Amino acid sequence: MSKLEVGLGERSYPITIEQGCLNRIGTDLSSAYPASRYCIIADDNVAELYGMRLQQEIEMAGMSCDLLDFPHGEAHKNLATVASLLSRAAQKRLDRKSLIIALGGGISGDIAGFVAATYMRGIPFVQIPTSLLAQVDSSVGGKTGVDIPEGKNLVGSFYQPEAVYIDSDVLNTLPGKEYINGMAEVIKHGIIRDADYFQMLDQKFDQVMALDPGVLAELIYGSCKIKSAVVAEDEKESNTRRILNFGHTIGHAVEAASDFQILHGFAVAIGMVACARISVLKGILGNDKLAAIISMIKRYGLPTEVPEDLDRNRIKSYLLTDKKRINTKTSYILAVDIGEVIITDEVSDEEIDAVIGI
Ligand SMILES: NC(=O)c1ccc[n+]([C@@H]2O[C@H](COP(=O)([O-])OP(=O)(O)OC[C@H]3O[C@@H](n4cnc5c(N)ncnc54)[C@H](O)[C@@H]3O)[C@@H](O)[C@H]2O)c1
Ligand SMILES: [Zn+2]
Repeated sequence: MSKLEVGLGERSYPITIEQGCLNRIGTDLSSAYPASRYCIIADDNVAELYGMRLQQEIEMAGMSCDLLDFPHGEAHKNLATVASLLSRAAQKRLDRKSLIIALGGGISGDIAGFVAATYMRGIPFVQIPTSLLAQVDSSVGGKTGVDIPEGKNLVGSFYQPEAVYIDSDVLNTLPGKEYINGMAEVIKHGIIRDADYFQMLDQKFDQVMALDPGVLAELIYGSCKIKSAVVAEDEKESNTRRILNFGHTIGHAVEAASDFQILHGFAVAIGMVACARISVLKGILGNDKLAAIISMIKRYGLPTEVPEDLDRNRIKSYLLTDKKRINTKTSYILAVDIGEVIITDEVSDEEIDAVIGI
């Protein structure tokens, strides 16, 4: 077992990484986070795989526990799902002393966290992430929220959980493509902050792909450590936290231009390579480092180029409306080394065109 602390003063919380911890969480929660009722929120897939079991465990520990599910998929990460969950929470008589358990991938975490942030003006919640992306990224940092037709994640709140519990055993049921999707964020963590971690992903490739429990523990710990350190430095993303968006400005545009047919991590991989190429064009990153980034991304089965059949002009128009735009300029995160990035708004249209292939 390993533990980390997300250092946010009064809102600090522990991350517990322990193989098999899902089987013991019922007792742990009832002693560490006593509540009038527990309420698990999960999408239908995860509710069936793990939600019912967790509900039983909590009930066996002598506590009342509800399980609220919603249909899986980004199309359901919206206000209608939140409204329905809030009504069901009220019907179950959840009160200010109840605890919400966000069980599932990033979508469940974002939705359940937002429900917890808004129900009765905020009740406590814990995160039990079950996808690799959620275990290494979205469950840490307190961003919660949903999509509206005008854009992804446009509505939400910074709302930190009481605790995060990560059990790598659940990854055994995660579809392979979703696993690779999460690997993009793992590689990102190495590029933005930690060259040794990046190297480890290369050296232990076979074990990572075989879901070796020891290596998974090391990988999850490494990513959570990097993410929590960045979040602790800048909780509300006024500055440093923006480095977590490495590859995301172009990635989001690729995702949107593909009508979300390209998964987030796959789009971010394309975005990371594009930004590394811009860094080389600007003379701030060596060609050897760009080659190392490309080879790592390829090795994990992620794409490095915008697919042939994707309309480049659509990507550009999404870039123009990116919500991260400050005044009139879009900011980009560029790599200066493996393990070090900078934030800049000095990226020209010509540089973008050159790397996305217009
Ligand atoms: N809050 C943040 O900081 C943050 C960061 C990154 C991404 N996100 C958000 O996260 C979402 C993407 O998260 P995701 O990729 O985890 O998607 P997801 O929640 O849809 O999970 C992917 C799929 O895997 C299934 N699944 C999850 N765990 C499983 C398991 N152990 N076994 C079998 N199936 C399992 C889910 O039912 C779903 O179908 C996006 O909406 C994105 O905006 C949020
Ligand atoms: Zn991401």
